[in-house]
This record gives sequence, structure tokens and C-alpha cells, in this order.
Amino acid sequence: MPGNGVIRRVLPDEMPRFTSIHVQAWNMDPGSFNPDEAELEDSRVLAVEGDLVAVLFLLRRDTWMGPDRVPQVGLGGVATPAEHRRRGYCRALLGGVLEEARASGDALSLLWPFSHAFYRKLGWEVGGRALEVTLPLASLPGRSSGWSACPVDPDSEAHLAELDAVYSRSVQEYNGCLVREPRDWKRKLSRKHERRFAYLLRRPGGGAAAYAVYAFKDLDHFHRRMDVRELLALDGEAHKALLGFLRDHDSQAREIQFYLPEQHPLLYSWPDRPQVTYRDAFMLRVVDVKRALEGLTYPGEGEMALNWRVEDPLCPWNHGTFRVTWSGPRCTLERLDGSPQADLACDIATLSGIYAGHLPAGAARVLGRLRLDGDEGARLSWLRRAFGRRPGHLLDFF
Ligand SMILES: CC(C)(COP(=O)(O)OP(=O)(O)OC[C@H]1O[C@@H](n2cnc3c(N)ncnc32)[C@H](O)[C@@H]1OP(=O)(O)O)[C@@H](O)C(=O)NCCC(=O)NCCS
Repeated sequence: MPGNGVIRRVLPDEMPRFTSIHVQAWNMDPGSFNPDEAELEDSRVLAVEGDLVAVLFLLRRDTWMGPDRVPQVGLGGVATPAEHRRRGYCRALLGGVLEEARASGDALSLLWPFSHAFYRKLGWEVGGRALEVTLPLASLPGRSSGWSACPVDPDSEAHLAELDAVYSRSVQEYNGCLVREPRDWKRKLSRKHERRFAYLLRRPGGGAAAYAVYAFKDLDHFHRRMDVRELLALDGEAHKALLGFLRDHDSQAREIQFYLPEQHPLLYSWPDRPQVTYRDAFMLRVVDVKRALEGLTYPGEGEMALNWRVEDPLCPWNHGTFRVTWSGPRCTLERLDGSPQADLACDIATLSGIYAGHLPAGAARVLGRLRLDGDEGARLSWLRRAFGRRPGHLLDFF
């Protein structure tokens, strides 16, 4: 810790300073920085000699890694006042927060980076990239008969429960989506400053099976685009019905833009090439190697045991060599003493990228980030099978 710093939540009499740090860092309108008491409880500041020298917010929500719910802490609003930058204050705050996260039972940490290189140095790695896919609205399929669309009322607990049921099941196709609480749905759908619309699609029998959240963007006079921020469906029929519902907005917009993970079915379903651009990439860090690896369900094909050496200067509990033993769908980790022979060796950012399923183990090896000893082919194909199965996707911004 630089100087005699202390990490804690922000205090009431520090609010003017705390606000000005955020306003300057994010070029915000001062009136729009209004964290509520629960958010302030989850603020963390590094205070040195009574001054705030680095700040952030925690978002403690489990994340879906496929069907597994893994405890996670999201980090947002990370900032160091301009006059205190490049003195190690942000690193010190992140190190303290990771220690707290581990003590609270978290296994992972997610964030939206301003720079990949900055957070990679601190142990995060890209967990998934979002694509923007733009299509003429009139190219969507027509309405599916028998399906009905219902506008979501953010004050209706029944609607939020239906939305959450579709969301929770469908995001298990991906790695990284957060487990949402009712207050997250409320906040997402009732933001007063944004015109955002959400509709549930119900099957002919009545059950909710898909939903979309969207807004309109004015491009120029009489030319609008529909921006679909969330598009989730339980199966192929529901997906088609949802597109059919969106198609009926052709009187309001010419184009439709979807925010999608890599490998989404929409990317493969158009005869003409859709316009695709990479938008954002979120990053994931393994906070606790043992808890994170033991928390996943593996394909369950056979047995494997490897000594995995991990370098993690920021989190000493991860730094060292682990005996990782896979048996069926589970794996266990045991920390080894001394300097045992390692079958795999990498830094924590590389392990995080492989764990997220975004960094292929083979690519990490080519880049010199993953070192293998012994039967390289068998080890690489084991890592591919164990981790490389799902695209990363994170639908919440923080
Ligand atoms: C990004 C920011 C938080 C960095 O804070 P900081 O206290 O200066 O960072 P630290 O001094 O702890 O630096 C940690 C490491 O990153 C490097 N670093 C610092 N700022 C960097 C930058 N802008 N770009 C690349 N690397 C940077 C440091 O050199 C240091 O590396 P080292 O350990 O190898 O020497 C600060 O510049 C800031 O508040 N920016 C505006 C808000 C923002 O963009 N926040 C991040 C949102 S995701």
C-alpha cells in the first residue's frame, strides 16, 4: 500500500470530493452523479492522509459460466484523480479490493476496460466481444401466428419474473452474463432519461419464451434505426417469433441493429452479408484459482491431472503451483509446496482468458503466454475441451 493508505467505503463528508473525481474522470454532468445508499455502501476508496487518491464501485453479482453460477465481483467507475495518477494508487486499490473479494467468497471479477493492456497487466483478460450486426428491418421474417407480444411493465413483479426466467435460462448458453436481481431489472427498464422499450413474447399456449429490449436512434430526418440491446429466446421457434415481432417496426425504422455475442445464430442466418462490427470487449479475472476452477462443470470425459504453475503478483493466494485433477464433470485443486515440476505455466491473465473460453490455449501457446511441458498436443486438446466451449457475453454495463 503506498504511504499509510486505507481502503474503505466513501464517507458522507467526502461526497463533494468523490463526486468531483467521477465528474472529471467521466466528463459527467455533475447533476447526473447520484449513487443511492446501496451503491455508496459498495463504493471503495483508497484514502491517503485524508485525501481520496483512487475510487471504484463494486457490483457483487454471481455470473453464469454456462450452467454454473459462479460468485463474482464487478468493478466499475475505477478512477484516480488526475493529480495523483501513475503513482500506483489504482493498482493498490484493485489489489485491496481483490483481497476483500476473495475473503467474501468471490471467484471471479468482471469489468469493462478503457484499455485491455492496462487491465491485462493487473490480471484481467478479454472474456468476450460484443458484435453489432446491422440489417434492413424489412429483411426479418414475418410474424409467427399464434404468438403474442406484451409490453413489459417495470412495476409488475409478474412481468419481471417472466423476463428473468427467459433471461436466466437463455444466458446459460454463454460465459459472463450476470445473475440479475429484481432491482437490476427495475433499474434497467425504468431509466427515465432513456426511451427504452421491452416486450415479452408468449407462445400460443401462453408461456413467455423470448424478449427484446430496444430503443430508437434518430440518424437523420425520417431515418431511424432500431437498436436491440437484448435479444434472448429459449428455442428456435421463440427466436423466429421474436424477429417476426421486431419486423413490425418497419414503419418506425429502416434499419435494425443487434448487440450480439460471437457465434450467435443470427450471424449465420442471412443470405446476404450483414454489416458486422466489433463493439465492446469485457474482461474477466480469476480472483481465486481454486474456487473458480472447482466451480465449473466440465464435459466429463475421462480423467486428467496436471501441475499448473500460476504467476499472480497481485494475489499471492493464486501465486504458485496447483495440482489440478479432473474426474468426470468435476475438478479439484491442491496447492503444491516447494518448486514442483509444472506441466503448464502462465500468468493469471492468461489463465483468466483460457478459463473464460475466449483465449484459445493454442493461441496462448503461440504467443508464448502458455508454456507446456510433456505431451503438448494432449494437454492443449484437454484445455480446449475443458474451457473453450461457449462465447463470452455480458449484457450489463457498469
Ligand atoms: C486509468 C486510471 C484509473 C489509472 O490510475 P493510476 O492510479 O494512474 O494507475 P497506476 O498508477 O496504479 O498504474 C498501474 C499500472 O498501469 C500503468 N498505467 C497507468 N495509467 C495508464 C494508462 N493511461 N495507460 C496505460 N497504462 C497506464 C502504470 O504505468 C502502471 O504500470 P506499472 O505497474 O507497470 O508501472 C486513471 O488514469 C484514470 O482515472 N483515468 C480516467 C478514468 C478511467 O479511464 N478509468 C478506467 C476505467 S475502465
